[in-house]
Amino acid sequence: MEKDEKRVEELLMLKTIAETLNMGNDLESMLDEVMKKLLQVTGLTTGWIFLINDKGNYELKAEQSLPEGLCYENKKPMCEGDCWCLERYRDGRLNRATNIINCKRIDDAIEYGWGDTENFTHHATVPLKAGDESVGLLNIGSPFKTHFTEEELFLLENVAFQIGAAIKRVQLSENEQKLALLAERNRLAQDLHDSVNQLLFSLSLTARTTKELTSEPRVLDMLSMMQELSQEALMEMKALIWQLRPNGLEKGIGYALTRYCDVIGLKLFKQIQGVGRLPHEVEETLWRIGQEALNNCKKHAQIDEVELSIKKKLNQVDMMIKDQGIGFMYDSAPNLPSVGLASMKERAEKLSGTFQLESQNNRGTTITVSIPIR
Ligand SMILES: Nc1ncnc2c1ncn2[C@@H]1O[C@H](COP(=O)(O)OP(=O)(O)OP(=O)(O)O)[C@@H](O)[C@H]1O
Ligand SMILES: [Mg+2]
Repeated sequence: MEKDEKRVEELLMLKTIAETLNMGNDLESMLDEVMKKLLQVTGLTTGWIFLINDKGNYELKAEQSLPEGLCYENKKPMCEGDCWCLERYRDGRLNRATNIINCKRIDDAIEYGWGDTENFTHHATVPLKAGDESVGLLNIGSPFKTHFTEEELFLLENVAFQIGAAIKRVQLSENEQKLALLAERNRLAQDLHDSVNQLLFSLSLTARTTKELTSEPRVLDMLSMMQELSQEALMEMKALIWQLRPNGLEKGIGYALTRYCDVIGLKLFKQIQGVGRLPHEVEETLWRIGQEALNNCKKHAQIDEVELSIKKKLNQVDMMIKDQGIGFMYDSAPNLPSVGLASMKERAEKLSGTFQLESQNNRGTTITVSIPIR
């Protein structure tokens, strides 16, 4: 009887967890919620989830009640360095829920005096799997608990399967969203090109031919103005379309920026190394920053030549754009008044990168961007 009751309890727990995992598409809040529920129903106190990518790099995605020693300096012990469970995960030895003898991160916290470890010494480690694919780790435990029974591990393994499948589902839908956004922008660019752009073109043509039908000076003036305005609008539209759909970005960042220099009339000296396969968002960011920097050279530097270098290293990509133009006084205060410079910096920082600008009167301007690649 007691056994039956326990079984019912477990099934209820699995049901609550499945429900939580089916809710929403925000990975962090979903994992946070599921972690809380899992601790509630197992009676354990502490747990965390590492997501691990196919290169073996890990990221802390959820945690509950970490002891003080693991929270040291904004949870640094949980975000850096290796441990035994990750080692086993990476070399393929962690296929099932396991008792880890003791936690290396806790040992380090004690050795380096990062804070109280609150009698938490051991944890169970469970691989998070979606089908055959491993996506991360679930670690869970309690103070003074040094061993997990087969039954406990079996239950955790069951939950881990559900969590793994949910992580995969969210990751796939995030990718889909990105692709949908890209497709939408392409569509918008095409629509603008085919509708507004063509109309503006006809307008400027009509203004020009109408001019030949009159010799009235006031009418001629107004027609010239119409022609100028529609041409200006046409130029702005062209730039907007370029921004929506970076023409040629599919052939790589170097190619796209080279073409952009052609469009705006800048002579380009370039040096590009190893950027054939950059992550999409890195490429897009370099493109947006590059475009703004080249626009600035064209608009402000009073020079028609520019140097571009893009180099990919092991864990980062560096881009430099340099002109020998008139330069300006640059104030790197956090609240930059102008949009162009501020948005270049923001874009780089959004991908945890850096943006630097150096400029001197009559000695040109150089921007340097570095973006880490995971
Ligand atoms: N390469 C450059 N050479 C000389 N001056 C520059 C250069 N880049 C920027 N500047 C100066 O810095 C100012 C701010 O640049 P920023 O790109 O933020 O604004 P903007 O180009 O004037 O307008 P937008 O918001 O359209 O980019 C410019 O107005 C210009 O005076
Ligand atoms: Mg600008």
